[in-house]
Amino acid sequence: MTKRLVTGLRGIEIGVPDLELAARFYAHTWHLAELTRRPGKVYFRGTGAAHHILTLTQSERADVRAIEFSVADVADLDTLAQSVVRYGGALVSGPAATTMPGGGTMLEALDPQGRVLRFIAGDRSHADTQSVKDRPIRITHVVLNSENVAAAQEFFENALGFTLSDRTRIMAFMRCSSDHHSIALADAQENTLNHIAFLMPDLDSVMRGGGRMNDAGYPVEWGVGRHGPGNNVFAYFLGPADFVIEYTAEVLQVDDTYRTGGPDDWKWPPGRVDQWGVGRAPSERLKTAQKTIFFRLPQADQIER
Ligand SMILES: [Fe+2]
Repeated sequence: MTKRLVTGLRGIEIGVPDLELAARFYAHTWHLAELTRRPGKVYFRGTGAAHHILTLTQSERADVRAIEFSVADVADLDTLAQSVVRYGGALVSGPAATTMPGGGTMLEALDPQGRVLRFIAGDRSHADTQSVKDRPIRITHVVLNSENVAAAQEFFENALGFTLSDRTRIMAFMRCSSDHHSIALADAQENTLNHIAFLMPDLDSVMRGGGRMNDAGYPVEWGVGRHGPGNNVFAYFLGPADFVIEYTAEVLQVDDTYRTGGPDDWKWPPGRVDQWGVGRAPSERLKTAQKTIFFRLPQADQIER
């Protein structure tokens, strides 16, 4: 396996208008565990080792504050800082010790399309990582809409060391670990959040999660089904503030021998959008919500170029 600068997707920080409602939802319905709080922020972990995978921040509107990645060595953060700038991104802060829960050293940067990316090395992780039925382990991918997928793909490849796993007609699936994809870039009019996928231990937990969400008033908006690229099972929902969230399982594990597929490798028969064809098709609510949440940029005076 190639030595990677970025070794995994650690998590995401999102802004929500009703912090308490969202915090109750992500703990009691979505089944993350609340870990700690700071003023205006609530941090959640999964059952995996990552210190925290979801940060909720009080916000006047739904937005994305940052996507967080794990980096193996603190020294790699300097390399990343240089390559981010070389390939058209901008530095926001660091690398420097972070006061974020879990600590470590952090580099915060903007990609060329204005997404806030955090790279963290030397942070604390959890030793109690027993997988628990019906509880998410970690975030396995985030899908980002892009007004120029080719440009975004180039940045993730050249600046961050990601590898293209598959390119379909509408999406580029990028990996930085053995997961088939940690980031996918979707062709779109604007640079927005498409969805956040939480890894469940198994298909049964995805199905049970669908029932639990339904009971709580959050019906399945797409699925349950099995995707083509990545071969993962899925169910999509709209959580509080209309964030599109996915329960997934059985994500394909790949290595350097994986043959990168193109659009001709991933064609569905008419009327089919997943391998099974038994779940509900994507709802109009889902399609709308997948285009409406933007990144919130850090203050302009924080950006070092
Ligand atoms: Fe997904």
